[in-house]
Amino acid sequence: MLQIETRSEQSTNPFWLELARERLRWRREPTRGLVGSFDSIAERPLSWFGDGELNVTETCVDRHLAHRPDKVAILWEGDTPGDVRRISYRGLHREVCRAANALRSLGVQQGDRVILYMGMVPELAIAMLACARLGAVHSVVFGGFSADALRDRIVDSGARVVITQDVSMRGGKRVPLKATVDAALTDAVEHVVVVKRTGDTVAWSTRDVWWHTIVDAADAEHEAVAVSADHPLFILYTSGSTGRPKGLVHACAGYLAYASYTHATVFDLQESDVYACVADIGWITGHSYIVYGPLANGATTLMFESTPSYPDPGRYWEMVQRHRISIFYGAPTALRTLAAEDVDHVRRYDRSSLRVIGSVGEPIDPDSWRWYHDIVGEGRCTLVDTWWQTETGGIAISAVAPARTTKPGCATRPLPGIQVSLRGTDGARVHGEGEGQLCIDRPWPGQARTVWRDHERFVSTYFSQIPGAYFTGDGARRDLDGDYWITGRIDDVINVAGHRMGTAEFEAALNAAPGVAEVAVVGYPHPRKGQGVFAYVVPERGATIDGALLDASCRASIGAHAKVDSFRIVPGLPKTRSGKVMRRILRKLAEGDQENLGDLSTLSDPSLVDALKAAI
Ligand code: WT7
Repeated sequence: MLQIETRSEQSTNPFWLELARERLRWRREPTRGLVGSFDSIAERPLSWFGDGELNVTETCVDRHLAHRPDKVAILWEGDTPGDVRRISYRGLHREVCRAANALRSLGVQQGDRVILYMGMVPELAIAMLACARLGAVHSVVFGGFSADALRDRIVDSGARVVITQDVSMRGGKRVPLKATVDAALTDAVEHVVVVKRTGDTVAWSTRDVWWHTIVDAADAEHEAVAVSADHPLFILYTSGSTGRPKGLVHACAGYLAYASYTHATVFDLQESDVYACVADIGWITGHSYIVYGPLANGATTLMFESTPSYPDPGRYWEMVQRHRISIFYGAPTALRTLAAEDVDHVRRYDRSSLRVIGSVGEPIDPDSWRWYHDIVGEGRCTLVDTWWQTETGGIAISAVAPARTTKPGCATRPLPGIQVSLRGTDGARVHGEGEGQLCIDRPWPGQARTVWRDHERFVSTYFSQIPGAYFTGDGARRDLDGDYWITGRIDDVINVAGHRMGTAEFEAALNAAPGVAEVAVVGYPHPRKGQGVFAYVVPERGATIDGALLDASCRASIGAHAKVDSFRIVPGLPKTRSGKVMRRILRKLAEGDQENLGDLSTLSDPSLVDALKAAI
């Protein structure tokens, strides 16, 4: 570890180049590391290992056939406890080859986009890898998104093929994915491939084809398509502070090298580990730490179809016992819910196999941290609080196992190769102990390359605030030891139960609800979800506002995971004389703070503040 650290400090380029050469299987070895810089990123996206050629599935699958063909690659635990499927690396190779041949027979080629709208079934990982094997670009859309949200992503990506399943099972409930795809489809989509999960009857049209019909019949050998290192591997849509979700593009080599490096390093991965990340593949955590990182490293990776409380709050720890899980990686929102239950749900199960436990997606509060560390991990496991984002591709700030940390809620240090800074509102660096906007000062290979078909948006979103640095959108504090504490988003992104959403998306959805004249949405501290959604609604003259209709509107335009937690009817929104909504005031009031509203002199109607206070 020390050696890596010194090497990375001397010069990042040889460090990353050596790392990528070692970690990936190449068709043509790269001779270059990074080409480009944050200063020139507006003219040209950064290139990592740009003269190299590879196919990522040869690193994630083929390479393991020599050393660990019979090792379990994917360990699937279905919705019903104990419903288990085990797919070896040999089996994974066969299935990925078959699926690649099947997609090829539908006309999928290098550069084509394929939308995956699925639950947590092994075919999802197989489909991702099959796309990658063809050089096609997958875009996984979380199965909770509505038909409208799915359509936006189909249209923006320009996909002609969608892969889905009949119905998905989650916590004993059926989620009708195929029906949602039918409602989302545009004429541009030529084929819908349907995995049979439950066997429920689904509507069928001439463009539909069963996964098993084409995959089972396909040849089990497939020659992977070698692509350039910078070729896009996937698009993942994520919410920002303004407008519609952006399709972040991750490129093959840099992304995979970084996912592999961080997965092996942070969790101290050993050959015999049983590794479980209980996130959903619909988000970046699942891409990097269920599929690409673990498979690149030849690990056994668990895929979990269900929820933390089904059939009871002991489900995670029951799985730990059943599979002898040694590394467990989960989200604070689930941990908070489980920590509120009887500890017997944890103690009942043997957790002696656990060695490293991780947290991801939002700040972990000290109480949940202690419960996770002391009770779940019996005080003997390393707890890694991992900070990163869809944009970073992989973990950027975290403790590294087996080193222990005793600071509940502290993400600790940037990983070797990552250089961060804290900046004041004027962009000036904060030195030593202090707080500021969290930036990353130097390029790293895991970084998203661009926004799909909108490089300008990529540049203006991340590189216009602080010249020469990547702006994360988070605030952070550095303590006297030099450790980092993430304080949360400082832009208009809210993190509700680990789901990243933009207040602008909520506002667009709520504006469409009957009787709504104007609306503003902010986040506020929520005991279970981390942040909740708080809406200030200005009704049309004489209209009454129905909370159920507000919810229905969000559900239709975003998805089932988008709910308004609290709303207030107000006579107007606090605006500056130039018409800009003063969100700072709305945030403070939603937090329950009526005193520290700051300077109100620029408001066009200062008397409105009293009306807002009265409405809270
Ligand atoms: C945002 C990114 C990390 C992958 C899953 C979420 C917040 C993430 C932490 C953490 C405090 C965290 C940040 C970040 N966040 N991890 N350990 N401590 N906050 O990816 O959906 O792109 O969301 O999640 O606010 O910006 P994402």
